[in-house]
Amino acid sequence: MGGIVANNTYRAQFIYENLMIQNNIIHQAYVHGVKKLLFLGSSCIYPKMAPQPLKEEYLLTSDLEYTNEPYAIAKIAGIKMCESYNLQYGTNFISVMPTNLYGPNDNYDLEKSHVLPALIRKMHLGKCLRNNDWKSLRSDLNKLPIEGVTGADAEDQILEKLAKYGIKKEVNGEVSVTLWGTGSPYREFLYVEDLAEACVYCLQNIDFVNLITDIRNPKSEIKNTHINIGTGKDLTIKELAEKVKEIVNFDGQIIWDSSKPDGTPRKLLDVSKINGLGWKEKVNLEEGIKRVYQNFKMYQKIKNKQAKISVIGLGYVGLPIALEFAKQAKVVGFDIKPDRVELMKKNIDPSKELDSKDFEGCDILFTANVDDLEQAQFHIVAVPTPIDEHNQPDLGPVLAASRTVGKILKKGDYVVFESTVYPGCTEEDCVPVLEELSGLKMGLDFKVGFSPERINPGDKEHTLTTITKVVSGNDAEALHNIAHVYEMVIKAGVHRAPSIKVAEAAKIIENTQRDVNIALMNELSLIFSRMGINTYDVLEAAGTKWNFLKFFPGLVGGHCIGVDPYYLLYKAKELGYHAKMIDSGRFVNDSMGGYVAKQVVKKIIKQDKNPREARVLIMGVTFKEDVSDIRNSKVVDILRELESFSVGVDAIDPHASIEEVQHEYGYKMVEHPCGIYDAIILAVQHVEYKNLSEDYFKSLLSSSGLFVDLKGIYRCKIKELNYWSL
Ligand SMILES: NC(=O)c1ccc[n+]([C@@H]2O[C@H](COP(=O)([O-])OP(=O)(O)OC[C@H]3O[C@@H](n4cnc5c(N)ncnc54)[C@H](O)[C@@H]3O)[C@@H](O)[C@H]2O)c1
Repeated sequence: MGGIVANNTYRAQFIYENLMIQNNIIHQAYVHGVKKLLFLGSSCIYPKMAPQPLKEEYLLTSDLEYTNEPYAIAKIAGIKMCESYNLQYGTNFISVMPTNLYGPNDNYDLEKSHVLPALIRKMHLGKCLRNNDWKSLRSDLNKLPIEGVTGADAEDQILEKLAKYGIKKEVNGEVSVTLWGTGSPYREFLYVEDLAEACVYCLQNIDFVNLITDIRNPKSEIKNTHINIGTGKDLTIKELAEKVKEIVNFDGQIIWDSSKPDGTPRKLLDVSKINGLGWKEKVNLEEGIKRVYQNFKMYQKIKNKQAKISVIGLGYVGLPIALEFAKQAKVVGFDIKPDRVELMKKNIDPSKELDSKDFEGCDILFTANVDDLEQAQFHIVAVPTPIDEHNQPDLGPVLAASRTVGKILKKGDYVVFESTVYPGCTEEDCVPVLEELSGLKMGLDFKVGFSPERINPGDKEHTLTTITKVVSGNDAEALHNIAHVYEMVIKAGVHRAPSIKVAEAAKIIENTQRDVNIALMNELSLIFSRMGINTYDVLEAAGTKWNFLKFFPGLVGGHCIGVDPYYLLYKAKELGYHAKMIDSGRFVNDSMGGYVAKQVVKKIIKQDKNPREARVLIMGVTFKEDVSDIRNSKVVDILRELESFSVGVDAIDPHASIEEVQHEYGYKMVEHPCGIYDAIILAVQHVEYKNLSEDYFKSLLSSSGLFVDLKGIYRCKIKELNYWSL
């Protein structure tokens, strides 16, 4: 569908194409047993002179508006088709009639666009002309030429084309925008995301039977079962133009060309039916236009490479998001560690998660120079949020990064935090730093958001782009823009959280939930070990129940699951609540390394061996399988505890660097097992360790040697060895 000109000009196309599409789809939906179908019509189905507001029952009561008659007739046919199929074939097809829609990705082609996008673009072009801002003007025309005129054309040609569409520079330098008609007709507008919600609402909650008014009377005529979707509020085109003028900040003149037609004097939907069925719109017109215009600016700017994204902190989280954006936008990747930056410049990921081919085709500047951040308008912070030696949040890096961004922050910029923090941290701790260093005010001068990362190191299936990303913003406009920017790269889509705090809390509980559940499994394993039964056997049996959750005992290391709950504990305590359950989970999980070591020592003693003379081989030291990351590895707790009993320990790991382990923990791993051991602890289930034979372990163990299989992966395969698992 289109505006007045398009409706009137392409009459044949409108009726033919709409009928063909809907006939095919509605009939095939019936043929293939589609359970529910939603047919979208338009408010132009109602007679031109019908009373206002337009009730569903006014359909077919008098003449239609001439300009859009062919289109309206096609739409009415669609409604009648749905109704007739429902009545004859018992289908459940529902028709909804939205009012005028507007929203992101609207049609801004002045030849075919609707009133609102046309107003926005005209005023925007008028503003550029008024400000002599030829750069923005040309870039607008490059994005969407007007009748073939692009930003590359000569000034005269551009001015001529703009004048044809009513955008004129007068001799005195003033700019006027001429609009069609008198501006007196009333119109109602609905934000497109509200319509999307209404459609889902209808599909989920409304059946055809709910729409039959006189269901008890079998003789009554069943008609007008369609549903109006709108706001029920309207304004004149003149008022609308003034609103757009203010939001776009165009300070020229608006001229009304009354020689042009006005269209229907008023088109307001009566929305009592949909309201009565439980749905109401959320976005008011002013906010919606702001979103659209901002979107028109920020999102489009990033997409058109006029604005850059910066990523601060290029680790496990920062580098993948920076590279993903750099496939579509211009990116500045900043890290404080120059040696890491040098590696990335050579297409090497210092975290060893990405291949050199992941860097190919990326438009990214890797830098350790803060000044380079000034080029960017959309900043993403992905620095670490560790805990200190007392398990308290260490906000050092995230506050340092806030200072860095604060120094280069400009009006109109966006800052999105991805680092995992406690609820409230972004607004209470980071924003004040941004405001102090920039001298700007959040909300007024710049926007802030929080979008937690969910990547799972070593996991090739759940990757950045295939996991739904939670996004949030300090206000509706921020949320809208941040969501759109992330939607550029996140194939799985984004979830818009209602506030920054909600998004922060969501992230922290994802990991807290895992931590607490694993703690329960660990506790069960402590109990079952005393009972002489294998925890994995018990879990396998219990797991046959449909709602038994699949968690397993194990060491909880790394920098997420074992760290994030401490952030929540800290905040809860600050608010006067001691979160005992979360705390207990942390205690149990943090004790597991020591527990495993003590069990091994006990079992060695039971074999009449002196622990001081015993030798133990630990297989795997990274914090989880198939990654090279050794930070906060709980295997080191086993190692230290064994050494405290003077047990000789050799550790091997095909993924960990011997130098890094020595640097981080002061322990020197060996390259290969060497000699005979009294116990082997298979601590990390790296792929290299998954399919070894019992003979392999036997060849490394003394005659009564112990095989400890922490994750229980050899449970049914070990027949002869002295075996123990959690
Ligand atoms: N790794 C994960 O699996 C994962 C998953 C979800 C969320 N997170 C969260 O994401 C955040 C980042 O974690 P990560 O694993 O990517 O950390 P990381 O240690 O791998 O990387 C952080 C990077 O930031 C740099 N850095 C530190 N301080 C800086 C500063 N002031 N300015 C610029 N750069 C700085 C470091 O040099 C490093 O390159 C943390 O809050 C973490 O909890 C991590």
